[in-house]
Amino acid sequence: MTDVSEFAWHDEFALGHQSMDDMHHEFVACVHALLTASDGHLRHALDDFADHARRHFGEEDASMRETTYGSAGCHIDEHSAVLKSIDEVRERLDKGHTQVVRAFARALMDWFPEHVRVMDQGLARWLTQRRLGASPIVIQRRRHATAATL
Ligand SMILES: [Fe+2]
Ligand SMILES: [Fe+2]
Repeated sequence: MTDVSEFAWHDEFALGHQSMDDMHHEFVACVHALLTASDGHLRHALDDFADHARRHFGEEDASMRETTYGSAGCHIDEHSAVLKSIDEVRERLDKGHTQVVRAFARALMDWFPEHVRVMDQGLARWLTQRRLGASPIVIQRRRHATAATL
């Protein structure tokens, strides 16, 4: 059973892709803050998480689109579902429902490990392969020389 008193980084979240790993450390810190904020700080913690989520998902979505990543569809859909939930949670919080924010934080704790393991890991591999594959290798054929000897 998940310990709901804190959300901490686990080594199995690491993907070996520096900017994604940095962003995921930030995600864990934001969700931990959301989980542990006092009632008076919930709105601030939710706004911080919303800022983070827009940058985090925005960067991943952009890299999927820019590289025409084949599995982008459901990955982008998962991100937008979380962003939509933030708006719904903010509306409920503005009506005084503080517990909905902590329930949301627990839902994010359950959602994140699987999202990283399946979707973000696939994207990290794709981006790394592309980066390595994109290093310039120039093979010059001696076409003219060959043609000249024929
Ligand atoms: Fe991510
Ligand atoms: Fe993602």
